[in-house]
Amino acid sequence: MEEQKLKELFDSLSIDDKVSQTIQLNGDLFVESGVMTTGPVKDLGFKKEPNFYEIGSIYNVNDYQKLYQIQKDVLTNSSHKIPLLFMSDIIYGFRTIFPIPLAQAGSYDFDLIQQAAEVSAKESYLNGIHVVFSPMLDLVRDPRWGRVMESPGEDVYTSKQFAKSVVNGYQGEKEMYLKENHVAACIKHFAAYGAPESGREYNQVELSNQKLFNEYLQPYQAAVEANCELVMTAFNLLNGVPATGNQWLNQTILRERFGFNGVLVSDYAAIAELETHGFAKDSEDAAKKALLAGVDLDMMTATYANGLPELVKKSEFAKRLDEAVWRILVLKNKLGLFEDPFRGLTQVNTGEILTQEAKDIATQLVEKSCVLLKNKSLLPLKPKSNQKIAVVGPYADSHFTLGFWASVSGKSSDVFTLKAGLLEQFDEEQLFFTRGFNLYESYEQFGPLKAGFEQLNGPIEEESFLLQQAIEQAEAADVILLTIGEQFLESGEGASKTNLQLPEKQIRLIKELAELNKPIIGLLYTGRPLVLTEVEKYFDSLLVVWFPGVMGGKGITNLLTGRANPSARLTMSFPKNEGQIPVYYAQTSTGRPLADSTHSERFVSKYIDAPNEPLFSFGTGLSYATFAGHWQSAKGNEEMIRCSYELKNRSEHDGWITPQIYLLNYSAEIVQPIKRLIATQHFFLKANEQKVMTVEIPKTVFTYFDNQGDLHFDAGEYVLQLDILGKQENLPIKIS
Ligand code: NOJ
Repeated sequence: MEEQKLKELFDSLSIDDKVSQTIQLNGDLFVESGVMTTGPVKDLGFKKEPNFYEIGSIYNVNDYQKLYQIQKDVLTNSSHKIPLLFMSDIIYGFRTIFPIPLAQAGSYDFDLIQQAAEVSAKESYLNGIHVVFSPMLDLVRDPRWGRVMESPGEDVYTSKQFAKSVVNGYQGEKEMYLKENHVAACIKHFAAYGAPESGREYNQVELSNQKLFNEYLQPYQAAVEANCELVMTAFNLLNGVPATGNQWLNQTILRERFGFNGVLVSDYAAIAELETHGFAKDSEDAAKKALLAGVDLDMMTATYANGLPELVKKSEFAKRLDEAVWRILVLKNKLGLFEDPFRGLTQVNTGEILTQEAKDIATQLVEKSCVLLKNKSLLPLKPKSNQKIAVVGPYADSHFTLGFWASVSGKSSDVFTLKAGLLEQFDEEQLFFTRGFNLYESYEQFGPLKAGFEQLNGPIEEESFLLQQAIEQAEAADVILLTIGEQFLESGEGASKTNLQLPEKQIRLIKELAELNKPIIGLLYTGRPLVLTEVEKYFDSLLVVWFPGVMGGKGITNLLTGRANPSARLTMSFPKNEGQIPVYYAQTSTGRPLADSTHSERFVSKYIDAPNEPLFSFGTGLSYATFAGHWQSAKGNEEMIRCSYELKNRSEHDGWITPQIYLLNYSAEIVQPIKRLIATQHFFLKANEQKVMTVEIPKTVFTYFDNQGDLHFDAGEYVLQLDILGKQENLPIKIS
């Protein structure tokens, strides 16, 4: 629609119409016929029931037929015929579920990550969805928090690259921007939701401004620079002010400083929660504070609907409401909804969902995101040999390996299991499958879905029987392939934990199998870094497979047999114990560092009962190949430093490799981390192949913010560190 026409439409709206546009409800409130069910809506406490055909948006309906019906009813019954916006929690796939974001980021293959996002966008588009509630760009350094699975991890550089790839994949670039097969990205949760005190879900966040500017805000800003259309506010207090009512954060920083011009949606009920926080004195005050903070859409409460009509009698607030509604209309217009309110829906062709091409991208992403933590030459295995393998543990035959958010639109029945993958490549006689332990204590928690879970996972059995059976099978085998870890409800939203160790029964199984003195390969299914200190020593090889998505079984088998070579690196450290948390690599130096301090051993920065280092640090990740890398040169101009290094594959294995380049400690007015990642490259080297690579490092990398948010640049001497799978080489450089 021409801007002029959009303006005319906007001018024709009454206050009630405008307020309605700011309402977002869960689409479940619409029944099959497309009519809003009044029972649950009543619970929301609307003072005056709005005309539901006029509201701005609904979310989490993923059934295209239902969406079609709802849109049709809206267009028939609403006076202004403004199409509804359909949003959804598509976090790492619609039907083609990919590995969780924490895993994906470790691939450092940002092109592949973008391709995966393109698949998610296309499948969402074909099902009528306009906006996806991702990527989540909350920097995370506390694995007690269950939502680390949705994040690209602890590192700023990695998160920024991930942000750009996913936003571009969803929205499309240049002439494809928001066109066919693309959707708008809603990044979240602004801001710093990933740093809750004590790792407890929804808890407050306390961060200095310099830490916010230098680290936590950076990934969101990268997404805004990639033109993300929406931002979601966060639930948490940030330095005492709820993010959702925070004018400084949302207006001064997000809109004015970052230049964000799109739609700001509250997180679920976050506007109403301003009152619960004790920040707003009542519901009207909550509406006022959120509006002043620039929040355009009220997700799932009646706070705006009840509060705004009175409030906007004052011109100051009327202006704010106008801005919000205009932004919502502009988004609808950018998506082409006025021309085609059934965008995507008219083209539904289920043959285009979960295609072979999509599954191939998913398989590659599994291969590139599983992290090899340990390998005593046991891997890769040799299929079609006499080697007998006891496959112990419930994951091999489980369909519940998609992770928390996949249940929104994914299907467990789509999962290509590990068992299926192994049977494809090994002789049947080589393999013995045994469950080892029950993944779930009971299926009661799944309510009406209980029967389906039981059918796909098998009945709950006596633990001691399962243990005994596993030992017997393992005794007859040459190698044990043991699957362990979390079940999918243990991570995700509302899954904070204080104990990050494996459950007792899994530890017992590992120890009993170790008694057999057979080599053990561990496959760890998890949504977060776990504490593996007690059990790590029992494994000859250990591969973190995360929640690997629909093609998990295929990609993992390819890694086990050497058809693919592991190349992923951890993007979040695995602590040695919970007491170290937060433990992350980009630390600053204390005045009394453990190494190189003149103080006596006692009075340095350390624990008396544990080392300072995590068990597996950020960046850990092995390959079947061995690589050697050396700096060659570095030259600078006004804008950037161009460096080159030589890299050799010194093995008989082909493989992908991700060299990492860090910037090391230097003096600054705001003390900077001892090291921080500033560049990565991802490429393939054949066995014994050698390459010289060039990397350009922009000078902006050397800048940093102070506590007022002002940018600094210090000329001087720096050190670049080349990291090739944990082997490091330093290159001093001068920056003027
Ligand atoms: C709450 C979560 O924090 C957010 O990430 C999600 O998108 C919304 N609920 C909608 O389901």
